[in-house]
Amino acid sequence: MTGPLLDVTDLHVTFALKDRTVHAVNGVSLSVRRGETLAVIGESGSGKTVTSRAVMGLLSPAARVAGSAVLLGTELIGLTEAQLREHRGRDIAMIFQDPAGSLNPTMKIGRQVTEAVRMHLPLDQAAARARALELLDLVQVPSPRARYDDYPHQFSGGMRQRVMIAIALACGPQLLIADEATTALDVTTQAQIMDLLMDLQDELDMSMIMISHDMGLAATYADRVMVMYAGRVVEHAATERLYRHVRMPYTRALLDAVPRLEREPHSLFATIGGRPPDLTALPPGCTFAPRCPRVQDRCRAERPELTEHETGHHWACFSPWPDERR
Ligand SMILES: Nc1ncnc2c1ncn2[C@@H]1O[C@H](COP(=O)(O)OP(=O)(O)O)[C@@H](O)[C@H]1O
Ligand code: SF4
Ligand SMILES: [Mg+2]
Repeated sequence: MTGPLLDVTDLHVTFALKDRTVHAVNGVSLSVRRGETLAVIGESGSGKTVTSRAVMGLLSPAARVAGSAVLLGTELIGLTEAQLREHRGRDIAMIFQDPAGSLNPTMKIGRQVTEAVRMHLPLDQAAARARALELLDLVQVPSPRARYDDYPHQFSGGMRQRVMIAIALACGPQLLIADEATTALDVTTQAQIMDLLMDLQDELDMSMIMISHDMGLAATYADRVMVMYAGRVVEHAATERLYRHVRMPYTRALLDAVPRLEREPHSLFATIGGRPPDLTALPPGCTFAPRCPRVQDRCRAERPELTEHETGHHWACFSPWPDERR
């Protein structure tokens, strides 16, 4: 099959509260090609998780979702829960930040993997157990046979995340969404898990969406980077292009906040100050205007659309930084 694996167009998600509406995702379009890793980057609250959960059909009933998400030729938005279950796990799977919270603390590790296998594949208990052991081996849990009957609390954070990856891989999904999957881990374990994901992606010929607030992580592991702010995509390009020719002021601020060896890490708020906008009362113009060092009158009145200004490089900004090689 040609064309992208996943094609999301003009996705909107709102949550109706008692007296106001949260505009969490405001017209996101993205596509994921076969075998590639797309990083979705942005501060906390920028709509990364809601975007991916909308695609997976995993939002609360309070969410109103509009737009399109076509996976392998099938429109996912509007499918019933039963129809979505056909795709979840088999075509598309997700891992989250908190492996402890996602595993059942009272059930043995091995059984949790076996049940994930049986949920999707018509295997008997013995065959499913054998498959679970293979999966635990694949994600490099040492001595899977010996660890099969351990409980989650007997595993470290990194090992629990390996188990979550094994569960996500149970039916060989074509797309894996990793939502801050290494954020809770120490730096060394984070690198081990990211390397594992990259190896698995190669070995299993999967595509990946890697959701993170960490521009440094995206630089190391992603083929393309999409930056989100207040539920919109504000800059998007191939990784190398984005890092060398960053144009949009918010992306630039994110990059400046990445710790470098030669200087102390800056927090984003220290770099640019201010907070993301209130999603229940979005301003008419550019949502970054109150924090932007390059703001002009036009920015407050009119909203910049995401536009392909240079081949393969999209940004939404009226007054981008000049293109200086970083
Ligand atoms: N169930 C919900 N009800 C109301 N608002 C929500 C709900 N889920 C998420 N939001 C809001 O949507 C916005 C985007 O959230 P999220 O996608 O989780 O951000 P990110 O993953 O980028 O940190 C946040 O402001 C969050 O508070
Ligand atoms: S449109 Fe204006 S306010 Fe928004 S990022 Fe660009 S320069 Fe800044
Ligand atoms: Mg999130």
